Amino acid sequence: MKKMQLFLILLLTTAVCLFAQDEPKKHGFIGAEACGMCHKTEKQGKQYDIWKASKHAKAYETLLTEEANKIAKDLGFETPAAKTPKCLKCHTSGSDVDQVLIGKKFKVEDGVQCETCHGAGADYKDMKVMKNREEAVKNGLVIYSELEKFCVTCHNPESPTYIAVDVNENWNKIKHPNPNKVK
Ligand code: HEC
Ligand code: HEC
Ligand code: HEC
Ligand code: HEC
Repeated sequence: MKKMQLFLILLLTTAVCLFAQDEPKKHGFIGAEACGMCHKTEKQGKQYDIWKASKHAKAYETLLTEEANKIAKDLGFETPAAKTPKCLKCHTSGSDVDQVLIGKKFKVEDGVQCETCHGAGADYKDMKVMKNREEAVKNGLVIYSELEKFCVTCHNPESPTYIAVDVNENWNKIKHPNPNKVK
């Protein structure tokens, strides 16, 4: 009997350890401006300016409008849109993570920002890591190969104002390539 108990305990701890390892490391958010420090120049491709001019950068502001509050109210929410988790989920970043991960310069007002799509950047933002794609990915950078699968995580009928738009057409409005890369 003792042996059996010991075996069960052993089995349980192994299972717990395996689960703990599966849990991906949580990275801190640094905010779009910090990415912009490097991704602003003509040479890099001005990703910051392209993003700043896009609707994604205004996604939080949108929640502050009368129109947004009306949508929230009509759906039965009692909080204004900008305080409704269901709206914040797609219009911002970081609202549903442990707040110790949110850096001092991170602004929820920046809406759908670099790290919303590319992953929290505290551990890949250093030049040495950034220059090595493999290292960057190991440290939290997210690269997408299939827009169809990625963009629909927010651009889908769960959005109260959803209108189906061709994903490539949408991508053309927000793409921000690195001009040094021949594709
Ligand atoms: C210290 C400067 C610096 C900072 C800060 C920085 N980057 Fe970079 N980033 C680079 C450089 C340099 C490259 C490599 C460009 C190249 O290959 O020509 C790069 C590459 C990238 C790539 C392309 C990776 C690939 O191989 O396709 C992405 C995406 C990216 N950065 C996103 C971000 C995001 C998001 C942030 C903020 C969380 C950020 N970067 C902060 C310098 C920086
Ligand atoms: C985290 C959620 C999220 C993801 C992921 C996302 N979007 Fe968006 N997107 C939004 C929100 C929210 C808006 C509305 C912003 C506003 O108008 O306030 C928006 C607006 C847009 C617009 C402007 C639409 C218009 O009416 O002019 C384009 C274009 C767009 N997104 C393209 C993309 C593409 C392409 C991808 C994938 C590479 C993508 N988005 C991924 C949340 C997201
Ligand atoms: C709506 C999601 C979204 C936002 C917001 C966003 N990106 Fe991207 N970004 C993508 C996608 C998708 C790609 C193309 C596939 C990939 O490299 O991940 C891309 C590509 C890149 C590349 C590589 C370009 C190349 O040609 O290799 C860089 C650098 C980059 N983004 C930086 C940034 C920075 C910096 C910000 C914020 C100022 C930002 N991105 C905001 C989705 C986004
Ligand atoms: C599943 C993701 C998602 C959720 C949840 C979501 N939105 Fe959005 N929202 C989007 C996207 C993507 C867009 C831009 C394209 C579209 O309208 O589908 C958008 C656009 C908007 C717009 C601008 C519409 C226009 O005509 O320019 C408003 C206003 C808005 N959302 C309010 C809200 C409110 C209020 C909530 C919460 C009740 C909410 N959204 C929840 C993804 C979402």
